[in-house]
Amino acid sequence: MVTAVTVRVPAKVNVQLAVGGLRPDGFHDLANVFLAVGLYDHVTATSADRLTITAEGRDVAGIPLDGTNLAARAAVALAERHGIAPDVHLHIAKDIPVAGGMAGGSADGAGALVACDALWGLGTPPADLLEIAGGLGSDVPFPLLGGAALGVGRGERLTALEVGGAFHWVFALADGGLSTPAVYRECDRLRREQGTGDLAGEVPAPVADPALVAALAAGDAHALAAVLANDLQDAALSLRPDLARTVATGLGAGALAGIVSGSGPTVAFLAAEEEGAAKIAAVLGSCARVAVAPAPGSTVLP
Ligand code: C5P
Repeated sequence: MVTAVTVRVPAKVNVQLAVGGLRPDGFHDLANVFLAVGLYDHVTATSADRLTITAEGRDVAGIPLDGTNLAARAAVALAERHGIAPDVHLHIAKDIPVAGGMAGGSADGAGALVACDALWGLGTPPADLLEIAGGLGSDVPFPLLGGAALGVGRGERLTALEVGGAFHWVFALADGGLSTPAVYRECDRLRREQGTGDLAGEVPAPVADPALVAALAAGDAHALAAVLANDLQDAALSLRPDLARTVATGLGAGALAGIVSGSGPTVAFLAAEEEGAAKIAAVLGSCARVAVAPAPGSTVLP
């Protein structure tokens, strides 16, 4: 009998994050192009007599170790689907920045789904895992797939995208995190201030940029750099003006482009090749992490 399963789950960067107007349900329609990058958390599920959760790694003081953690919620949702008790110990080894805009919490939710499914021998069909993941949060389905995908709706309805080569990224980790709902609220506030309106119907419907999808498919870093776009960037910079200096530093070090990752505050820099990424990281200093994309989705380790 299996008594422990470890799953490796990737972080993401949004190479396009087009944000529509505020919907009556409090969410925004998105055209969200996710790219999985080679920074990983590891989620280990171990047989236990009740649901418990522990974590190790940088900034883990900032994550809840109770039933509100997405990994715990994932175990409960999967157990409910199968009519069993969620008796499991979950241990999260964190390498993805906490509250950094790289979907680390969502990755842990995805990892817990896959780890518990294997531990409990459930064999849940992938389509069902994606559906459960979408119920847990808008960013939880993507780390199941990895690679690249377009997310529509809240961002949870995914279509896989082709990636034709490796992309070399440098991530500048920031001190402290940004709250995703606060960044969306700031985006709405800025839109009202600019007089463009912030509600669904007032803001144009978000669409994926064909040039960006083609750049991914071609594996062309220069072409991708030219079209990186994040509608939450102004809001993240408004809440964290210091990030503008980070963007300027990375660009000065030779990055092809620099963009706030998701709702921030991590800043993502795209390099032309591996050596360029190493140079950008050296200039940024100890906050920098180098990672290659695309990364595979959640993987059960042997
Ligand atoms: O889906 P998730 O739980 O990750 O969303 C967290 C918060 O981010 C939501 O409560 C909402 O404030 C905001 N959000 C949004 N539109 C989306 C996704 C998230 O407004 N498509």
